[in-house]
Amino acid sequence: MLIKTSRDGFCHPLASEITSQRVYAGRRDLIKLMATGVAGAALASWASRESQAQSATLTPRPGKLAALPGVKSSLAGAVTMEKLTDYKDASSYNNFYEFGTDKADPAKNAHTLKTSPWTVEIEGLVKKPARYTLEDLLKLSAQEERIYRMRCVEGWSMVIPWVGYSLSELIRKVEPLGNARYVEFVTQADPKTMPFVGSRVLDWPYVEGLRMDEAMHPLTLLTFGMYGEVLPNQNGAPVRLVVPWKYGFKSGKSLVKIRFTDKLPATAWNKAAANEYGFFSNVNPNVDHPRWSQGTERRIGEDGLFAKKRKTLMFNGYEAQVGQLYAGMDLKKNY
Ligand code: MTE
Repeated sequence: MLIKTSRDGFCHPLASEITSQRVYAGRRDLIKLMATGVAGAALASWASRESQAQSATLTPRPGKLAALPGVKSSLAGAVTMEKLTDYKDASSYNNFYEFGTDKADPAKNAHTLKTSPWTVEIEGLVKKPARYTLEDLLKLSAQEERIYRMRCVEGWSMVIPWVGYSLSELIRKVEPLGNARYVEFVTQADPKTMPFVGSRVLDWPYVEGLRMDEAMHPLTLLTFGMYGEVLPNQNGAPVRLVVPWKYGFKSGKSLVKIRFTDKLPATAWNKAAANEYGFFSNVNPNVDHPRWSQGTERRIGEDGLFAKKRKTLMFNGYEAQVGQLYAGMDLKKNY
């Protein structure tokens, strides 16, 4: 199956077409282990395409994280032909302001985040409000691995294999009411375990939002893992959102509430600087940030600091999938 996007000519082949069969088989093994729940301590070493190529069988990374337990998984979703970002970069160059504003801070500080027990409250304009435990959420639908491009508003990008399922699976279960137009995502804000909650840089908790059709789009991923493992704390454990056609800040980490509403959610970055960070925040090379261009980006780990930058793609390269959501909208006004 080859899907060509209209603009950039990116292909989205099946993972089996881009990964050597040996490695693919290795991945399937992990996924099967995850499915049967016997993975327990099985850890995958998928730090990079190179390290994948060396691992015919699952090599435990001398690390800390468990494979996602007890979930039925399948390899599917939007896959790019681009080289994966090294696990090391993806887990050490982060934005998670609850743990500090420097890119290295979250990896240093987020060990204090307490991810168990964890619940996510579903509330607002919904027929079936509920409090889901993390375990309930993990069981709610089959996990998929999806390799997504991520583009940060600051001008860098990564390619990460996330593990989760479409948020729409959860939304369907809870049955939003007809007047629910937006979904608000509220994240954990615990000053005891998150040292920078209370700092004046943002209004806490960190809140994000999507229009209902964006939240229902199959690319919007409720995410529990990356590189075949549970999320490291600094990447938003134990559950976060990934919205690959929007700037990274729309992908809220460590979610505790999902609220259905008829009002445009007041989001953290919009409240902090409305002229710089709009509600939509779709990746758009044609609309510059007031203080810098959005036309190019630096791929973390791949390009040296002084190497030629890549051109940023409309909707981060997902125009064929999501362009229709914004048909007729003035994207300069609705940035
Ligand atoms: N979620 C919370 N709760 N707090 C944050 O500071 N930062 C956002 C987003 N989600 C942030 C957050 C920003 S600016 C980006 S670019 C992405 O997380 C970074 O995700 P990553 O560290 O997994 O790459």
